[in-house]
Amino acid sequence: MGDSYGHYIDGKWVRPKGAKWFETRNPATGEVLAKFPQGTPDDIVSAVKAAKVAFPKWSRMPPPRRGDLLLDASRIFRRRKDELGAIVTQEMGKVIAEGRGDVQEAVDFYQYVAGEGRRLFGETTTSELPDKMAMTLHMPLGPVGLISPWNFPIAIPSWKSGGALMAGCTVVFKPSSLTPLCAAKVCEVLEEAGLPPGVFNMVTGAGGVVGNALVDHPDITAISFTGGVETGRDVYVRGAKRLIKVGLELGGKNAILLMEDADVDLAMDGIVFGAFGTAGQRCTATSRLIVHQGIYDEVRERLVERTKKLRLGNPLDAKSDVGPVASADQERKVLQYVAVGKKEGAKLLTGGKKLKGGAYDRGYYVEPAIFETRRTHRVATEEIFGPVLSLLKAKDYDDAVTIANSVKYGLSSSIYTRDVKRSFRAMRDLEAGITYVNAPTIGAEVHLPFGGVKETGFAREAGTTAMEEFTYVKTVYVDYSGRLQRAQLDTEQIART
Ligand code: UN1
Repeated sequence: MGDSYGHYIDGKWVRPKGAKWFETRNPATGEVLAKFPQGTPDDIVSAVKAAKVAFPKWSRMPPPRRGDLLLDASRIFRRRKDELGAIVTQEMGKVIAEGRGDVQEAVDFYQYVAGEGRRLFGETTTSELPDKMAMTLHMPLGPVGLISPWNFPIAIPSWKSGGALMAGCTVVFKPSSLTPLCAAKVCEVLEEAGLPPGVFNMVTGAGGVVGNALVDHPDITAISFTGGVETGRDVYVRGAKRLIKVGLELGGKNAILLMEDADVDLAMDGIVFGAFGTAGQRCTATSRLIVHQGIYDEVRERLVERTKKLRLGNPLDAKSDVGPVASADQERKVLQYVAVGKKEGAKLLTGGKKLKGGAYDRGYYVEPAIFETRRTHRVATEEIFGPVLSLLKAKDYDDAVTIANSVKYGLSSSIYTRDVKRSFRAMRDLEAGITYVNAPTIGAEVHLPFGGVKETGFAREAGTTAMEEFTYVKTVYVDYSGRLQRAQLDTEQIART
């Protein structure tokens, strides 16, 4: 039995008396890692109050000073990378190299965003009137709510909190109930970095209870949400009722286009990593491979062969290529989709079974699966969020683009080709927030904006856009003429005199 935690409010771990608790477990072994409180709307009220009280001082701290603290946090994430990476792996199930990668993303983003404290540039311009000038400033919105998923349990909270904190906002964070331990580690790092009490608060519990209470709270000025489409839609509607900013990062059904002129060896590595890395549980995972008919048969054969060689095993073991999926619910969903695929007539080329026997019995291990599908099949159009790849045949480049764009999502996309013209066309033609050329759909870097189009949502996290969700633009006019000057009314007269 692991430790029990409380909510993190006003710089302290608050242990709610008489509250209900839930456990977080290792999806590879079933072992209980820790216990966390099932938060209530009252916990949200306390956390938002702390964030509200902390806001004036935090928002007025010179941004480079806020940056100093965030840079310290980056260094702490770096120092604790192995330890935290192992916790990511134990709590979420991704293989250990990826567990460390999750933490590295926090190291990188906090380092990047710390420097933004000296780059909060606005515009400065002249006026239409004499002895007057104008400028814009980026202003923090106030206390904000961050709701994060389980698949990048350190990285995504770091993108969201790094942007919010650098912008000058204070935070109430509601992590996924599958990965509260990783979330608690983010709190620890920020505390060690010296964040003042109340600047960053965390409440654990069910989305339908604490998530809703957070979005509905009158003092919350913006919500940044990453998760499923249906929840995202609900969050958006709730936010709309309050007329607050809502940033949404939702599903994906990301495609790689494999053209007949591509370097197929290179593409094979990318496809296998893109589809089955993190057991397919990335918003950016490659879940469709659209292959030019000229090389389709060869690709299908080689891909099945490669996929069969993947080693499924305990994700802490460096020899494992793929770990378990993150929970019993995830396993059920993936296996249901495999059944749906078979029923609708998609051909299962490999995998799709729950692994049984020995250590596998304690975890949620599903064999990486490849379906040969029609373009209308559900397995080829709906997000599965697991190790299931749909293989589709295209007549030519245009047909491949049509298939790629036919789904309701638009997060990541990729083309493998040696033709420069085609690669540039793909950058233009693919309806997605991210397009890769000769690389798989996963692996976004933190200094570039991350987000999608269509039902993926519209947030642009990280990168140069990291603070947009958490700020508003203030336009300032300074009139040093010493008299009333009337914009629009006095301008013509000035030209004549
Ligand atoms: C996600 O799956 O929501 O681009 C985030 C990638 C990672 C982040 C994925 N850097 O695959």
